Amino acid sequence: MNQFPNLFTPLQINSMTLPNKMALTAMVTRLSGTDGFVNQDIVDRYMRFAAGEVGLIVVEASAVHGAKSGQLLRINDDEFIAGHRDMLQQIHDSSPSKVALQIIHFLKIARSGWRQTVKMLDKDDIQAIIRQYGEAAVRTRDAGYDAVELHMAHAYTMSSFLSKRSNKRNDEYGGGSLETRMRMMTETVLKVRSMVGPDFPIGVRFDAEECIKDGYGLSESKFIGLRLAQLGVDYISLSAGGKFEDAIAAEGEALYPYTGYSGDRAMPPATYQDGANVYMAAGIKAFINEHGYHTPVITTGKISTPEMAEEILQSGQADMVGFARALLADPDFPKKARLGNPDKIVRCIYGNVCKQLDEKFKKVTCTLWLRHGLNVPMADPEDVEGPTWPNGGDVKANLRQNGRVRVEWESAEDAHGVYGYEIFRSANGAAYEHLSSSSTNRFTDQNALAGNSYQYMIKAYDFAGNRSVESEPVTVEIPLPVPIDGDHLRITQP
Ligand SMILES: Cc1cc2nc3c(=O)[nH]c(=O)nc-3n(C[C@H](O)[C@H](O)[C@H](O)COP(=O)(O)O)c2cc1C
Ligand code: SF4
Repeated sequence: MNQFPNLFTPLQINSMTLPNKMALTAMVTRLSGTDGFVNQDIVDRYMRFAAGEVGLIVVEASAVHGAKSGQLLRINDDEFIAGHRDMLQQIHDSSPSKVALQIIHFLKIARSGWRQTVKMLDKDDIQAIIRQYGEAAVRTRDAGYDAVELHMAHAYTMSSFLSKRSNKRNDEYGGGSLETRMRMMTETVLKVRSMVGPDFPIGVRFDAEECIKDGYGLSESKFIGLRLAQLGVDYISLSAGGKFEDAIAAEGEALYPYTGYSGDRAMPPATYQDGANVYMAAGIKAFINEHGYHTPVITTGKISTPEMAEEILQSGQADMVGFARALLADPDFPKKARLGNPDKIVRCIYGNVCKQLDEKFKKVTCTLWLRHGLNVPMADPEDVEGPTWPNGGDVKANLRQNGRVRVEWESAEDAHGVYGYEIFRSANGAAYEHLSSSSTNRFTDQNALAGNSYQYMIKAYDFAGNRSVESEPVTVEIPLPVPIDGDHLRITQP
């Protein structure tokens, strides 16, 4: 039996049967042009995810309206359907993955710092947006997608209506109560359902916590989840934060909603604990279940291993596990877990280079990939041999000033090519911890503290994720910077 039985139990969502409970949550790629058409780079990117067999692929946010934007997919006109249809055909012909399209409406934003707000929309604008969601959902269905996902998270129109902080309207769509904040969402879901029919799966993604001052938290979002369940949506995908309100302005640039604290909560960086947002899904799932609804809930946010994903499902904290960056780093993550090779997964290091590329409207790639590549290369399935060290893995480490250690190592060798290196550290003889990974053979440890002895060890990996044996370790003793010998402050070495 597979070691991840919950992950690999199929899941029925309305008319769609997912082969496993792993979802690629939407991730803007900036691979399309500003014309918004599906192009070959987009097809290649999603075909690569599909080759890794993730149960549900949610294709990146695609505009329901014709507003100007940078590179972003569009679904606001029938002319966009054919490109999506071709891509879907190829994915379905080659992979068990099911595919949803995330559809989005966003308000205008200028480099000057001006932003359109929901308060500036009149009733006709609101009705037009609701209609645009309905029409875009129909195009999604007609293009051959297995589901549509309504984007109601982060800094965009739907989320701003839901927001406790940014909905400053004072009418029936306004911030007066949770009911009025939810009216836009409610009418949109009803409209989409009436247009796509009862059998076509509708998912909704929203923020379980806004993660900004005066924003809503779990105490309210559980009612948003309940409303969605009562409206008959087919799955709920939870995100967090990603707001304009705390975004950090850059001179001459349009505000990017993932630069502040709430941006970190949306895409938790390496400094955050794994599964940083799982408690939100657990709270919402428990609440809607208590009310007799079993709408599947997807949790996302720095879930880095299949072991952790399995535990989340096993403990009933969510019904599906979402991954974005872990799958960008290694699209074969699901397949490797299915085949019992989780130790071959190339680990995301959560340094958020991909997020910075998105911010700058550059093609979104991963820092661990080959330079200039637009995808992870397909590995040779016959390749089971890990890289080798010509000299046993010669590692050198130099103590730099102020708590930094520069680690360098010899290049490994592999018949199919070396892909990258994992850096491990043991402190004072304790077990080795994975510090980071690198596509080069250099790394600087920024957290080497005086008064400790560190051992560094490297493993190389190839394109199939096969690991080398451990390199020779290197030890660095870091003396305390000044003898601390006062009566009231003494550090004793163990
Ligand atoms: C480059 C990038 C683009 C993203 N684009 C979207 C998007 O289009 N829609 C969305 O709902 N979330 C988007 N996200 C958020 C992810 O879906 C996900 O919720 C987040 O990265 C946390 O999950 P992770 O820790 O598994 O990466 C994006 C994230 C990244 C890194
Ligand atoms: S760029 Fe960094 S954070 Fe993004 S997927 Fe790659 S390793 Fe993960």
